[in-house]
Amino acid sequence: MEYKNIEVKIEKGIATITINRPKALNALNTETLEELENVLEVLQNDDGVKVIVITGAGEKAFVAGADISEMKDMSVFEAKKFAELGQKVFRKIELVKKPVIAAVNGYALGGGCELALACDIRIASRNAKFGQPEVGLGIIPGFGGTQRLPRIVGVSKAKELIYTGDMIDAEEALRIGLISKVVEQDKLLEEAYGIAKKIMSKGLVAVSLAKEAINKSLEVDIDSGMEYEANAFAMCFGTQDQKEGMAAFLEKRAPKFEGR
Ligand code: HXC
Repeated sequence: MEYKNIEVKIEKGIATITINRPKALNALNTETLEELENVLEVLQNDDGVKVIVITGAGEKAFVAGADISEMKDMSVFEAKKFAELGQKVFRKIELVKKPVIAAVNGYALGGGCELALACDIRIASRNAKFGQPEVGLGIIPGFGGTQRLPRIVGVSKAKELIYTGDMIDAEEALRIGLISKVVEQDKLLEEAYGIAKKIMSKGLVAVSLAKEAINKSLEVDIDSGMEYEANAFAMCFGTQDQKEGMAAFLEKRAPKFEGR
């Protein structure tokens, strides 16, 4: 598929998806969401891709939201379809069996904040701004924000952010646990790739199982979660990586993981 609104680069196991509509501050329209859905499918099935990084084109915005000009005249039915499309694509990010890092390089508002929320790890440049300004447009978050934001920053902060539409800066986002690191803008991708490389040096089947187990912790009761964890833990013992990792430790050498 030819992409018009995103760019994809694959290098040394890391796929970088850049949302690329800088004139609209990388706002997400239907076409962009469909391209994202397609590329996630491709990257999921590409064994050469180990980690995915998502960022925005330009220095101003990660993604400034869903495309307001496209939403403006939507019928109730079209709005539901649009929300469901975004939810489906972002859920794909959450469920893809590879780590996904959001490198937030500027405004992450509305659907842009929701895109970041669906990623496994969020880091941001110092100029980044986060917010769910939807109520200021007479709507609510529709790409998962009402479900993921409270799980990540707690109910009180999520309600404050969503009810007021307030924007917060990167330092505040770090303080409330919305992101895990703030760096200078020109170091942002370097930092994301550094995290990706560190992950890639580990047992990647284990990383993928850890992702699934952690996701479960947000979705199921604690006993079911524990059972899921014990099963995933046990599955690691069917991998070459577990044998290599433990042998290497005991032989006092660095492990050579094969991701199987
Ligand atoms: C469409 C957008 C856009 C958006 C910016 N643009 N955000 N177009 N949808 N979400 C466009 C502007 O119209 C403008 O186009 C150009 O990008 C540059 O933006 P400016 O506003 O001129 O820039 P600036 O003054 O620097 O302000 C930056 C900003 C502001 C604070 C980020 O653009 C802004 O408030 N954007 C909207 C943020 C927002 O409300 N997001 C939530 C959307 S609702 P022109 O053609 O004039 O140059 C949402 C719902 C998700 O996300 C769920 C859906 C189901």
